[in-house]
Amino acid sequence: MSNTTSDDSLITTEVQADSNDDRAPVNEAGTAVAARDLNVYYGDEQAINDVTMEIPEKRVTALIGPSGCGKSTFLRTINRMNDMIDICRVEGDVEFGGKNVYDADVDPVALRRKIGMVFQKPNPFPKSIRDNVAYGLKIQGFDGDVDARVEESLKGAALWDEVKDQLHSSGLELSGGQQQRLCIARAIAPDPEVILMDEPTSALDPVAASKIEDLIDDLAEEYTVIIVTHNMQQAARISDRTAVFLTGGELVEYDDTAKIFEDPEQQRVEDYITGKFG
Ligand SMILES: Nc1ncnc2c1ncn2[C@@H]1O[C@H](COP(=O)(O)OP(=O)(O)OP(=O)(O)O)[C@@H](O)[C@H]1O
Ligand SMILES: [Mg+2]
Repeated sequence: MSNTTSDDSLITTEVQADSNDDRAPVNEAGTAVAARDLNVYYGDEQAINDVTMEIPEKRVTALIGPSGCGKSTFLRTINRMNDMIDICRVEGDVEFGGKNVYDADVDPVALRRKIGMVFQKPNPFPKSIRDNVAYGLKIQGFDGDVDARVEESLKGAALWDEVKDQLHSSGLELSGGQQQRLCIARAIAPDPEVILMDEPTSALDPVAASKIEDLIDDLAEEYTVIIVTHNMQQAARISDRTAVFLTGGELVEYDDTAKIFEDPEQQRVEDYITGKFG
């Protein structure tokens, strides 16, 4: 597994972007999500500073940058997970499906079905594998064939073959990598358009991480994937576009992944990517 590591110390200028050339050029993709003049604050502290960016549909967009630069905050503004944080205040727009997700008539619960999320630490519910995946369907009042959807979602998360004979055992009995794929199955069951992932492989061993990377590539055929990662090689391998945030929540460069990793415009981006800081 020499090509998979979560160890940032291995970063070199040799990082090569995988162009994901089985997909059409990214400039031919529509826009799934757009941030416009976005500012986010926690109390008096600004975490996102005037970010405007368009995220392409059915592609993988990586958000990278040093700790505390606002990557998770930005990700959470997209499906309004920041609503849960009392002191968090959002200014500006996040457009999705022709609307600002912060408009008064947007139901955040419905929004989160369309924009699912997967976290750093796998967090299955203490329920059976089947019920973990069926969970969101129940809430949305899904009236189709739940078991068929569970199977389809587990297949979509590349987990079906490993769990099909134990659907009624607890999700917590799975390995870490399997639990993370279960969380991905849970996120895709309600048929979202966008999947947000916040460092989804950083708690996993390299083999499990590699499986998730392969899965992310497949997911982008159907969904828009926006992923935060600290692992430069991972960003280079799996993403089509890369957004570099630096301290203060500023988006300093956003471009095709190959351009960011091979010929960034800004010296400070090159310094970050080559491990000179951050
Ligand atoms: N719930 C919160 N309450 C107050 N401040 C917060 C909260 N969450 C984040 N912040 C602050 O906002 C800034 C951005 O944090 P954020 O978690 O978005 O960074 P990050 O880029 O995801 O960092 P990391 O790479 O360490 O996960 C930091 O200064 C952080 O301290
Ligand atoms: Mg974070």
